Amino acid sequence: MELRVTSLPGDGIGPEVTSQAICVLEEVADGFGHDLELDEKEIGGVALEKFGNPLPDATLQACLASQAVLLGAVGSPAFDHNPRELRPEAGLLRLRQELGAFANLRPAVFFPMLAGCSPLREEIVKGTDILIVRELLGGLYFGQPRSMEGAPGGRQAVNTMRYSEPEIERIARVAFQLARTRRRRVLSVDKSNVLECSRLWREVVTRIGHDFPDVQLCHQYVDSAAMALVLKPTEFDVILTENMFGDILSDLAGGVVGSLGLLASASIGGPVGLFEPVHGSAPDIAGQGIANPLGAILSVALMLRHTFQLPKEAECVEAGVIAILGGGFRTRDLARPDERTVSTEEMGAQIAEFVRLAAHAGERAAS
Ligand code: IPM
Ligand code: MN
Repeated sequence: MELRVTSLPGDGIGPEVTSQAICVLEEVADGFGHDLELDEKEIGGVALEKFGNPLPDATLQACLASQAVLLGAVGSPAFDHNPRELRPEAGLLRLRQELGAFANLRPAVFFPMLAGCSPLREEIVKGTDILIVRELLGGLYFGQPRSMEGAPGGRQAVNTMRYSEPEIERIARVAFQLARTRRRRVLSVDKSNVLECSRLWREVVTRIGHDFPDVQLCHQYVDSAAMALVLKPTEFDVILTENMFGDILSDLAGGVVGSLGLLASASIGGPVGLFEPVHGSAPDIAGQGIANPLGAILSVALMLRHTFQLPKEAECVEAGVIAILGGGFRTRDLARPDERTVSTEEMGAQIAEFVRLAAHAGERAAS
């Protein structure tokens, strides 16, 4: 099968983790007999520097012409004082919009061999397996009007949280459908005691829930859900929530399972899927070879599963991550003080090697 992928390494640790994820993807293509066609383009700060645009047209066209996009990270302190549309993040937000990627899936799974990484006691965090379904194209991120006006000292800034019924319906359906592949529980997170958007959200999600009588639906306010995530993370299955709440809760979930560096994401719903680790560009550690590539590598697994419908290949990558963590390999973010650490590159190479051996073992078994 042909796999047409655009890679957007982006800023900070983006290029380091993306190149490891690509190594793994190449090994998958090789080992399972797929034809990988890769196109690398600029986004974010690197694109701003080179073209004065965080999402150059050539990048967007390449993404639209491919089947899936693998993104590293965007964001750099060099552009902190730029106007909004000339910040690296603006490139990513526009890309999500252009790709119609309204459903952002962010799994947060606890790996038993990483028990010591979570700040929570093992008996609290053991068994955690959460899927955050974050609405990605609405709410405060995109709502109009938005502005900052006035003279320094007396300025005013405005953002708008806006949701329409169809926007809520379509993301709710994604969450309920995914819940059917899991433990059949959806927790819808809102702030309906204060916000109109959330009242509409709760009403629409409840209505869509009637189409999924086999899925248990509960509602919780976001502040209370944040506390519960820390106190009893194992009680969550699918969390369905709006854009900003999902952004915040997914970093929290990363902390709960031990490192944000482990979290992968899939942004789907449009014609081209966008896959990226949940972590940011981490400029403080960029270029040192110590970043954790597992979030990017697990994003490749999500790409194989969601865009290419290749579950065996996806499972092979995930099995690789589990095996290599089981073998004691740790990037710095995962290591306890007495543990040896490996570089970004070595971690990637270990997973790639696992995939190579597993694919060939499968070949031998089949012949
Ligand atoms: C994320 C990031 C982005 C977001 C930024 C970089 C625009 O934090 O993917 O979680 O807020 O969506
Ligand atoms: Mn975020």
